[in-house]
Amino acid sequence: MIKIAVLVSGSGSNLQALIDANLSGQIVGVISNKPEAYALERAQKAGIATAVIEHKQYPNREAFDDVMHQQLLAWDVDLVVLAGFMRILSAQFVQAWEGKMVNIHPSLLPNYKGMHTHKRVLNTGDVFHGCTVHYVTAELDAGQALAQGVLKVNVHDNADSLASRVHVLEHVIYPQVVEWICTGAIQHTEKAVLYRGQVMLEPVQFAKF
Ligand code: GRF
Repeated sequence: MIKIAVLVSGSGSNLQALIDANLSGQIVGVISNKPEAYALERAQKAGIATAVIEHKQYPNREAFDDVMHQQLLAWDVDLVVLAGFMRILSAQFVQAWEGKMVNIHPSLLPNYKGMHTHKRVLNTGDVFHGCTVHYVTAELDAGQALAQGVLKVNVHDNADSLASRVHVLEHVIYPQVVEWICTGAIQHTEKAVLYRGQVMLEPVQFAKF
């Protein structure tokens, strides 16, 4: 059974969706860089081990990442799931977990990498918005996309309403992608990402209009 660690910084609604999905893999631990993150309570309620590793206590990014790396090794983790983890990871850490680490981002990547995606979508006047699950590589929000949840922006939407509508989609696509990885339906090989044995050229699309 695949052992999963979830990295969080905040509310952890995606962590909750992963817990509730009864995955084929086991969530063996949750790491937060913030002691006050509500995600830690969610993990504890579900009987999952937690570790608080505060980035502020380390002299640099590499030192902080190394402590996380050691914790992941101690838990014998196969897959790292970033779920609202608000730290940029060092190249060394990303390389160590390449092909074994996924993230969810609240936009239709490659559009709107980085922060404040909902506001930026509204400012541009886009018709479609959504979220993307992708492998993590050294370049921010640029690893191969595995799945996207797509919604239509309504005339009455504001940044808050878009955030909550995107969240609903996140809670559908993230557990699904993690389950595909757990069961081997998605495989990261040296040459390509495979989906059900075929080279994955496009992310799987989930639409909610
Ligand atoms: C989500 O919007 C996700 O896309 C982004 O951070 C947020 C995490 O929310 N990476 P939560 O902590 O899972 O509720």
